[in-house]
Amino acid sequence: MRFSLHLVLFLTTGSVWAFQSPEVSVIPKPVAMELKNGAFTINDDISIFYSVDSLEPIASYLNDLLFVTNWKGYNIYHETRSEAKGIYLQLNDDSEFVHDEAYELRVTGDRIEIEAQSPAGIFYGIQTLRQLLPEQIEHTDPSLVTRDVVWKVPAIEIYDYPRFQYRGMHLDVARHFFPVEFVKKYIDLIAMYKYNRFHWHLTEDQGWRIEIKQYPLLTEVAAWRDSTLIGNYGTGQYDGIRYGGYYTQDEIREIVAYANERFVTVIPEIELPGHSTAAIAAYPELGCFNQEIDVATTWGVFYDIYCPKEETFEFLENVLDEVMELFPSTYIHIGGDEAPKKQWEESDVAQEVIRREGLADEHELQSYFVTRIERYLNSHGRQIIGWDEILEGGLAPRATVMSWRGEQGGIAAAKMNHDVIMTPNDTNYFDHYQAENDTEPIAICCLTTLEDVYAYEPVPAELSEEEAKYVLGAQGNVWTEYMHTGAKVEYMAFPRVIGLSEVLWTPKSDKEWDDFLIRLQPQFSRMDYLTVNAAQHYRD
Ligand code: ACM
Repeated sequence: MRFSLHLVLFLTTGSVWAFQSPEVSVIPKPVAMELKNGAFTINDDISIFYSVDSLEPIASYLNDLLFVTNWKGYNIYHETRSEAKGIYLQLNDDSEFVHDEAYELRVTGDRIEIEAQSPAGIFYGIQTLRQLLPEQIEHTDPSLVTRDVVWKVPAIEIYDYPRFQYRGMHLDVARHFFPVEFVKKYIDLIAMYKYNRFHWHLTEDQGWRIEIKQYPLLTEVAAWRDSTLIGNYGTGQYDGIRYGGYYTQDEIREIVAYANERFVTVIPEIELPGHSTAAIAAYPELGCFNQEIDVATTWGVFYDIYCPKEETFEFLENVLDEVMELFPSTYIHIGGDEAPKKQWEESDVAQEVIRREGLADEHELQSYFVTRIERYLNSHGRQIIGWDEILEGGLAPRATVMSWRGEQGGIAAAKMNHDVIMTPNDTNYFDHYQAENDTEPIAICCLTTLEDVYAYEPVPAELSEEEAKYVLGAQGNVWTEYMHTGAKVEYMAFPRVIGLSEVLWTPKSDKEWDDFLIRLQPQFSRMDYLTVNAAQHYRD
């Protein structure tokens, strides 16, 4: 009941903004908040309380997050309400929460209460609480924290929920490979800004990165290339160094579980029919001409694509069986982009499939290919996402479209009543340059500043209110042709990830660039303490 009262207050009086206060600097900006007098101080005497069993791991997560405030750790109790000073995590299935990821955060001098109808909501309340604490909270080593820091949280009431249900960040681990510890760090960081999807791009022309037990050559052969292009595309210079790596199935399970604890769903991408040179290098029979080819050493779009024969479908279904076993995500991303049709035009096998199925051309053949895979995944309770090329030749009946060549694919799909995730390349590709400066490290092309990212609006004006409902959200993409270290990924992704978080979470009418820029400043210190190599262009 207490909660409902607050909700009514917020909804009837509107948002009470408190961002003028230097102590309140939360990103993404919450829906409604009211600053009060006083503060709660975290000291050794407090405890952490949680109301139901399912919150126990989150209470532990909070305890870990507070490590530098008390390296002995706090007492954690399964208790709904007590008079003790502490942080209370309370699950409440009060139907008045308007969104299942909503939370309410109340801070007084005596207690901090986070209330939500789902564990995810509690987790987001904790992320907000984290940003109300001094930036030094991000240190992982107590000896680095200055002695005079007081762990004060301003008295406040916040009611908050996301604008979009799909809030994604992508990482290409195929062009360059990143170790498990880095992938976890990346997931930690996106969860901090309330993202809930990690799109893991696992297969490419230049490397296959997921262990598949039935096909050992995918990791013995396809995971390795003999050399890598040096410098910009077209230099023709190569380093001559063998490069590669892959995640074992145990490592993948570890990452999926780690993400799950942070309310991030991992969506694997297994590319088909194009961007599959590496797999065909390992198993030439998957191509139309059974030719010996090498794992690609340069970037771009390649002619070697899967041949639409029964053996290929059998291979892909076997691969997807293992993928589904590892990834509980309803969505499986099947790629679908940049598949040149030249080999299918020249292949008797592909032409025979066109005749047999009564297809008009190679584009319809791609649609046939994707639809068969969709049917297979649907029969196992999964749904496909594909890049917007899957519209060509006919969209698979239940596919979700990821619009990357601008917004047009997303608009077309929404008008066809298909779900859409927006990742238009001019604003959502974080492999682009982020500043005009001769000293910027090499990037693939183009200029996408933080301000461009922040200004992005995922719902195109062309869509009616009804059609707009098909836009589930948006995503930032990090393609790694020009990122061979985790530090470079961090440089390209941050702070653009932080900017996009507000596009995805905050009500459209509350977005404000100047205000965001002020709130961004303390985030830079947080990135420092978290040892994130964020780009500094927008730092004062
Ligand atoms: C893409 O950037 N090829 C999806």
